[in-house]
Amino acid sequence: MSNRGLWVCSKLIAHHSLLIGYQQSSRILMSKPILIRTKAARAPENRVSLSEIQAAMGRIRESIYLSPCARSENFSQLTGNSVYLKLDNLQRTGAFKERGALNKLLTLTPEERSRGVIAASAGNHAQGVAYHAGKHSVRAQIVMPLTTPLIKVSATKSYGAEIVLHGANYDEACEEAVRRSHQYGLTFIHPFDDEVVIAGQGTMGLEILQQVPEIEAVIAPIGGGGLISGVACAIKESNPRVRVIGVQPARLPSMKVAIAEGHPVTLSPAATIADGIAVRRAGEKTLALVQKYVDDIVMVDEEEIANAILLLLEREKTLAEGAGAAAIAALINHKTSLNGNKVAVLVCGGNIDVSLLSRIMERGLVKDGRLVRLRVHLPDYPGALHRLTGILAQHRANIVETSYDRAYYGVNLGDTAIDITMETRGPDHITELLSALSASGYVHERIL
Ligand SMILES: Cc1ncc(COP(=O)(O)O)c(C=O)c1O
Repeated sequence: MSNRGLWVCSKLIAHHSLLIGYQQSSRILMSKPILIRTKAARAPENRVSLSEIQAAMGRIRESIYLSPCARSENFSQLTGNSVYLKLDNLQRTGAFKERGALNKLLTLTPEERSRGVIAASAGNHAQGVAYHAGKHSVRAQIVMPLTTPLIKVSATKSYGAEIVLHGANYDEACEEAVRRSHQYGLTFIHPFDDEVVIAGQGTMGLEILQQVPEIEAVIAPIGGGGLISGVACAIKESNPRVRVIGVQPARLPSMKVAIAEGHPVTLSPAATIADGIAVRRAGEKTLALVQKYVDDIVMVDEEEIANAILLLLEREKTLAEGAGAAAIAALINHKTSLNGNKVAVLVCGGNIDVSLLSRIMERGLVKDGRLVRLRVHLPDYPGALHRLTGILAQHRANIVETSYDRAYYGVNLGDTAIDITMETRGPDHITELLSALSASGYVHERIL
């Protein structure tokens, strides 16, 4: 990385008595801070190492799906690299988060185990902790904000966790989790700024090295930085020549800002469809690891993330959530300087809200000219609609939705306006339809 010197200097700056981590509640699309009081005046030394990650691998191997890391012909052609997709969206709970959560659970002392664990999250971390705690008979409490959609509450509950609904937002839920951890002696499992969690996430890096030994670069999304810290440590300590590139949403580049400033900075709340990486403040431990091991951090905007979700779905039959598609978004939009390289791209989560997915799909179809909505003005007499649909049928447009409006202010009295949504074959087909309507004397406008 060009400002490596700056990064190294910034490692020395970590004097905070109040450590504030941030994590995103899954589907509320706004970032959420976690307030954790620590006694330390200095950031503790990082204890994440290759041997810790190897030990984590030994521990979790049996219970974590060895996700494929297969070459994608589509993305290889599209980007001019040899692209491998590491599909951790296929984990049982739909995200890599199980790795860190399980490593933490398996390193508890017998006493800690018997008391149980607690986490605050409405997203992938909640499910990872809940699922593996359930499997290993460890009592788990998950604190979720009162606004958490019922579907998320039920999914987490179904893994056997006890759900505590508390607070208007993630901050309040997290404060409650920390308070409960003290009150009941439960072990608080941080979503990213915990060495044992980071080592667990790093197992994905080891798997990539085993699956594609000649890999030259790895691209990973960054939220709080736990995933990339572990993966980058595993990769760089095994082969320092492999480049590791992080990706953040342009609306919340918390790690990029932390790197530039030399310490974590709290960003203003912002909404992003990559809710899994909507983290307003980088971790202290993760910052130090990113400074040490990550070569570059690039940003992607909302449109790029949405397009990547769509491309993954259409071309690869892979369902990714925003955070899971961010890394491929960076590659296809040439945010990295990679060219002709063997690149592993982390597709690390697939838990996307179906209504968000349907909006993304619809927008994608509109953008590609495969869906169009026209408002056509018609005389209000029997047979007028029949004539119009005849023209559309002649040009092979498939009507999927219609809505009539006689009161619409732009319509002459005695006329009516109809909004017709049609499946089309692309921009040329739409131009053909518009010309046909004009040639038949229809007043019309494109509204989608
Ligand atoms: C799907 C997905 N990708 C990436 C991340 C980012 O992980 P981290 O916060 O460790 O950087 C998350 C975090 O929840 C996630 O759920």
